[in-house]
Amino acid sequence: MCKIGVEMEGEKQPLLAMRGITKSFGGLRAVTDVDLTLHEGQILAIVGDNGAGKSTLIKILTGVYQPDAGEIFICGAKVEMSSRRDSIRVGVNAVYQNLGLVDALPAPANVFLGNEPVRRILGIPFLDNRRMREETERILIENTGVKLEDATVPTLNLSGGQRQAVAIARAVLVADLKVLVMDEPTAALGPEETRNTLALIRAVRDRGIAVIVISHNLEHVFAVADRVMVMRGGRKIGEVDTATSSGTEVLGMIVGSAVGAGAHATTPSTLGAQQ
Ligand SMILES: Nc1ncnc2c1ncn2[C@@H]1O[C@H](COP(=O)(O)OP(=O)(O)OP(=O)(O)O)[C@@H](O)[C@H]1O
Ligand SMILES: [Mg+2]
Repeated sequence: MCKIGVEMEGEKQPLLAMRGITKSFGGLRAVTDVDLTLHEGQILAIVGDNGAGKSTLIKILTGVYQPDAGEIFICGAKVEMSSRRDSIRVGVNAVYQNLGLVDALPAPANVFLGNEPVRRILGIPFLDNRRMREETERILIENTGVKLEDATVPTLNLSGGQRQAVAIARAVLVADLKVLVMDEPTAALGPEETRNTLALIRAVRDRGIAVIVISHNLEHVFAVADRVMVMRGGRKIGEVDTATSSGTEVLGMIVGSAVGAGAHATTPSTLGAQQ
């Protein structure tokens, strides 16, 4: 996925590296000196209590906020982003919790919103509705495995999981998408739709796109993520592999009670001794 870029000491070039990211709002430090590394095809969860700085960090990644300090590298190349458009240009896109869909419009119009293909008849431009519908069906199947029974109904009438799929389809339409960010993708979903959404995230990952998922639900995090990064009070507290960690350990890191869950906790739970 990183076509150019220098191989660093035999290691694979990370798709994304954030280094020393710091951001204040007035006198409030929302994010302090955070590093984040993400590799191709990896799902990274970011967890932490309310106000831990998770959304601020990813809004910096998506060009919504500019950091006071720190640098962002995509495939080893430093990028400057002062808008969402800039982040999309370098291959980073986000699906926010409200999904940003226009409820009254059907799925194809949402997927192509602001990006509609036009067909000319006798020089007069018309929206190419057929192409939008066919492309939407193709993008949905290829990226999310979701098939809509009727692509003409308003997205308001779709299920939560289907709406999620439409939002993901729109996000991955970006040419050369490298990183997809999802803020609380399962927060408002029932069990079945949660399962589907976790499957959608894996489907996106399987295309080689790296995914960052912010979630308060550790069960979902452990079901889908390869790594978990824990934030507290604007700082990165630590990062663990889901394969060698546990919800108990991560919870301890979130609330700050875990003995030995230091900056690079990678060992199995240290909480056992406390219980
Ligand atoms: N635009 C803003 N202006 C002022 N303060 C802000 C702004 N955005 C975030 N903050 C503050 O920065 C801190 C981090 O907020 P952030 O939204 O990043 O937390 P979070 O980890 O996403 O929390 P949650 O889990 O509740 O979504 C909070 O204290 C919040 O009040
Ligand atoms: Mg948030």
